[in-house]
Amino acid sequence: MCGIVGYIGTREAYPIIIEGLKRLEYRGYDSAGIALFDGTDLKVSKTKGKVSDLEARADKEITKHGNIGIGHTRWATHGVPNDVNSHPHLSNSGDLVIIHNGIIENYESLKQELMTRGFTFQSDTDTEVLINLIEDVKIKENVKLGKAVQIALNQVIGAYAIAVFDKTKPEEIVIARLGSPLAVGVGEDEFFIASDASPFLEYTKNAIYLEDEEMAIIRFHKAIKVRKIKDDTIVPAYVQKLQMNLEQIEKGGYDHFMLKEIHEQPKAITDTYRGRLLRNEAIIKMAGVEDNMKRFLNANRIIIVACGTSWHAGLVAEYIFEDLARIPVEVEYASEFRYRNPVITENDIVIAISQSGETADTLAAIKLAKSKGAFVFGVCNVVGSSIARETDAGAYTHAGPEIGVASTKAFTTQITVLTLMALRLARAKGTINSTDFRQHLLELELIPQKVEEALKSDAHIKMIADIYKDSRNCLYLGRGFNFPVALEGALKLKEISYIHAEGYPAAEMKHGPIALIDENMPIIVIATKKGHYEKVVSNIQEIKSRKGKIIGIVTAGDTQVRDLADHVIEVPDTLESLSPLLTTIPLQLLSYHIAVLLDKNVDQPRNLAKSVTVE
Ligand code: M6R
Repeated sequence: MCGIVGYIGTREAYPIIIEGLKRLEYRGYDSAGIALFDGTDLKVSKTKGKVSDLEARADKEITKHGNIGIGHTRWATHGVPNDVNSHPHLSNSGDLVIIHNGIIENYESLKQELMTRGFTFQSDTDTEVLINLIEDVKIKENVKLGKAVQIALNQVIGAYAIAVFDKTKPEEIVIARLGSPLAVGVGEDEFFIASDASPFLEYTKNAIYLEDEEMAIIRFHKAIKVRKIKDDTIVPAYVQKLQMNLEQIEKGGYDHFMLKEIHEQPKAITDTYRGRLLRNEAIIKMAGVEDNMKRFLNANRIIIVACGTSWHAGLVAEYIFEDLARIPVEVEYASEFRYRNPVITENDIVIAISQSGETADTLAAIKLAKSKGAFVFGVCNVVGSSIARETDAGAYTHAGPEIGVASTKAFTTQITVLTLMALRLARAKGTINSTDFRQHLLELELIPQKVEEALKSDAHIKMIADIYKDSRNCLYLGRGFNFPVALEGALKLKEISYIHAEGYPAAEMKHGPIALIDENMPIIVIATKKGHYEKVVSNIQEIKSRKGKIIGIVTAGDTQVRDLADHVIEVPDTLESLSPLLTTIPLQLLSYHIAVLLDKNVDQPRNLAKSVTVE
């Protein structure tokens, strides 16, 4: 993972790099560092901790002056998070400096070889090996930095996005990518380098996204030249106009990004179906589906691959696709799928779901499915991301940037896209009649205002959070379409409050988890009116007779569960298949408030990073 930022131009590089790193802290935040060339020498400052710790240290350590520099915010892979392992890393001569996002898998053997030639190492990182390999090549082959980087990378196995410069030639930065994202902002007489476009949004809307196996030498005052790492072939640098704006990546008055993103859901869901759901004409338009309709209609089955929250959205989609479009669906953890020699045929459709579009396991699952001839459809949020580009066709969620590490609006917008797809296919297959189809369109269009309604329970949910914040464990139960929501609710609580939580299908409780129930165990039960209501009520009775504390997520106006539960949180009524879009909201708010009350770092929970670009 890790975030990288670089600048070369006429401005002071320090503030650009520091502010850029703050925007990339979602990618990792266990240490940070910066290297600047101040006109005469290289100045490096780095530290364990966040970018704010780096600022404090840099204030004391370096002059913070210079028009060329690189910076890094780290999520540790090789070597514990400490000052020495922080990036940037220097070569033995002290001339070359590098930042790196990714993993060099064969670093150990490269290191041994370099040591036999007299190289020494300060850190435990794979990155320090890479910069010394580059230096070794540069000296041995007597080549310029760009060529040395290229030769070295051809000896490397692994994944990387790197930026390197040489203090003896401080007018160029060499960058390269394989498996980790890298964007270049193109300004007037200046270039910005970053893991995504957010660090340079206020300076330029022109961006070049490097593809895998590409590198570039960025020279002050010169046009950028992109080439293949393998064989030097020049590749046309395609400049994209960015659609994002600065407000989208700021907190906008909320205490945390997560809270902002929870509240953005009505708009995000509307943006997701805008232009696709045409209720008056009773049609759904999705170019990626229309263009490949034959494939979808002839598909044996759909295999969904994803990780984390996106995997939960896939599970909801399994219920929706099978129910509406009558297409068999299997949902797979991308990390398992990629390594278990799955049976895939040319008549299978693989749907890859990913907010970031950069998740390494999902990307690898896509490549595997493609190699076996399957058609791969992507559901991504980040436009131009690796997964968006790697898939054969796709649909963006249009949720806008999601910065909080805990996914919220990504989940509901993924479900929205997948529901639109299922409805479109159901119509084409004739598995839904026109009355039901119209009703689904109408109800889907009402979801944003119903989410708005569900958000009004915020104060009530905060009160419940206060009662249960000190629990050590928590159970989440749901059935049918709401079973995956139970999983998602449990994941949200674990990842930001560090309370152990499990999601279960309500009926499975008696096959084991019921043994956990006592008067200290809070159990959140999704018990909306449509969908196995009576069965869930029976499950609630079973919990009650074992003295568990029941928090029911119920349909507005419900009295039966209210009489049994310790607390209820109401959501508006809707179709059963759309209910996950509403029942998710109180679970997001509950985990948010518990984490805040426990004084946890909601947007940057420990050990996590927003996009998991390593396997
Ligand atoms: O970017 P992706 O959707 O591929 O990310 C997948 C997971 O890493 C992600 O959903 C993760 O589980 C979130 N932290 C959950 O809130």
